[in-house]
Amino acid sequence: MSGGRRAGRRTNVALLSLLVLSLATGAAAFAIGTLPAATVVAVTHGALGVGLLVLIPWKSVIVRRAQRRRTHRPGRVAGTALGVLVVLCVASGLLHTLAGYRVYGPITALQIHVGTALSLIPFLLAHVIAHPQRPRPADLSRRVLLRTAGLGAAGLAVYAAVEGGSALLGLPGARRRATGSGEVGSGTPELMPVTQWLSDSVPVLDAGDRVRIRDQELGLAELDGTDDVTAILDCTGGWYAEQVWSGTRLDRLLGTLPADASIDVVSVTGYRRRFPASATRDLLLATRAGGTPLSAGHGAPVRLVAPGRRGFWWVKWVAEVRVVDAPWWLQSPFPLQ
Ligand code: HEM
Ligand code: HEM
Repeated sequence: MSGGRRAGRRTNVALLSLLVLSLATGAAAFAIGTLPAATVVAVTHGALGVGLLVLIPWKSVIVRRAQRRRTHRPGRVAGTALGVLVVLCVASGLLHTLAGYRVYGPITALQIHVGTALSLIPFLLAHVIAHPQRPRPADLSRRVLLRTAGLGAAGLAVYAAVEGGSALLGLPGARRRATGSGEVGSGTPELMPVTQWLSDSVPVLDAGDRVRIRDQELGLAELDGTDDVTAILDCTGGWYAEQVWSGTRLDRLLGTLPADASIDVVSVTGYRRRFPASATRDLLLATRAGGTPLSAGHGAPVRLVAPGRRGFWWVKWVAEVRVVDAPWWLQSPFPLQ
């Protein structure tokens, strides 16, 4: 096999590594809400993603060489679809990063970004199965490691150029949080977008509905307490807002719990998240934001406030808080509803 073909193989292996790591760090970016971990993940994710752009000249040679061949090329459709989806994914990631949180008609750039990232997975699998690239002992040679370091440095340099350009031009994305989210409606809860995870939607509720806390049924009057917490709601939809949330701390309502217990916070819609018992002192059942009662879209009558955790932990329209024996991590890392 000629040196040129080998170089092609390494480019493909590098592309595979970048895509797999981008998917993994993208998922981590959604899961992490605390600094400095969020910064590390977002910078790594960005550098890996734009690192794909660095490989375009090498991959173009491979694609042109494959196109020149007259023979039947298995997986050609998958390769083309993969190309389109990767371009859309990187472009929408950059659009979100530069333009900040914005709704374009029915959709946001981040929704296109995550949608294209997830839908490219089957095409990537089909393309790699059609063109397997076997690892070789020489892949661990000093020269290959140096090239990998070079690719990493190039990815970081492009990332730094994008960030620097964005800051110089004063683009809205330059003011985003470490998680990549843009600020919308801090101190003014009614300006916060109404966003739900996957298929969850705003229910029609009766103001008299009661919330079940362990074995008690409590009404709004009993839950509308005087505990205030200033916390940032950082939605994986790409926006964040800081509010003063008021209500009652969960540890006051639940009393002493066994150290190894967990609590399930369940919504009227069936949406739920599980927390370790030790987290209850930081959790608030909120009835108000910025001094005014919650709106239906933001979880009225009662929602959970989970400081330091991404928005999908902040269960809205709470119907029940249940103490369970199962460990808190025994749940899907991301809700399925
Ligand atoms: C093949 C998969 C992926 C690629 C190639 C990719 C690439 C990118 C790129 C190039 C950016 C802009 C980086 C910047 O300049 O800051 C970006 C941002 C972002 N991506 Fe991805 N991404 C992928 C998958 C995902 C997934 C699966 C998620 C979430 C589940 C995700 C979440 C994000 C977020 C939250 C940002 C904004 C980060 C920030 O603004 O600092 N990405 N991505
Ligand atoms: C950004 C990701 C990638 C894109 C957009 C992409 C796209 C393409 C396209 C359009 C072709 C030419 C048409 C074809 O024969 O399928 C091609 C060829 C090829 N791809 Fe990829 N590819 C990517 C990643 C990969 C990966 C991860 C591997 C394997 C680990 C791979 C292995 C190959 C091989 C071996 C060929 C040459 C086939 C030949 O010479 O006949 N590619 N790629």
